[in-house]
Amino acid sequence: MKALVVYSSRTGNTRMIAEAVHSAMPEGTAIHPVETAPAPRGYDFIALGFWVDKGEPDSAMGAYMDTVKGAFVGLFGTLGAWPDSDHARESMQKAVDRVTGNTVLGTFICQGKVDPKLLAAMAKMRDNPHPMNEERKARLEEAAKHPDGRDCENARAVFAGIMQKLEASCAQ
Ligand SMILES: Cc1cc2nc3c(=O)[nH]c(=O)nc-3n(C[C@H](O)[C@H](O)[C@H](O)COP(=O)(O)O)c2cc1C
Repeated sequence: MKALVVYSSRTGNTRMIAEAVHSAMPEGTAIHPVETAPAPRGYDFIALGFWVDKGEPDSAMGAYMDTVKGAFVGLFGTLGAWPDSDHARESMQKAVDRVTGNTVLGTFICQGKVDPKLLAAMAKMRDNPHPMNEERKARLEEAAKHPDGRDCENARAVFAGIMQKLEASCAQ
């Protein structure tokens, strides 16, 4: 089976998950940042990784997703919000909607530390849309610890499961 991992990452969180996902792929599977990714044609399975930007896949991965057609895909993402929040679910749903025309075999999302430069810039904004409060502080403190080893293991497990299913269906 010819598989490919493509990810977009500004500060390294999604790259970390991409590497865990890659470790579940068949020997010889290529992994690329979106900036140098090959065209998606000719792959049986593509794992697509994004960071959440204003509630949706970041624009670089969104643009790549638009080029993927008729493939089996798995989606993974990182975000600052809680991974079991409506925001996380809605962000992943946006990714699923973006790859319409493909078959989504699984998804994974986890927290990722938010760029301190972004937080500092937001704190200085006069009309900060996300003012600091106890809930937000706790969430950002937790995000700062992710992705961690468990996130990587969980991502790997999701994609290992997808590979097993795919290989079983190919064998039939
Ligand atoms: C410009 C910008 C917008 C962001 N928008 C969101 C958002 O809407 N929701 C969220 O939960 N996290 C948001 N984040 C946090 C990132 O999704 C998160 O830190 C992610 O793990 C970054 O991944 P990376 O290290 O691969 O770039 C945003 C970060 C930046 C820099």
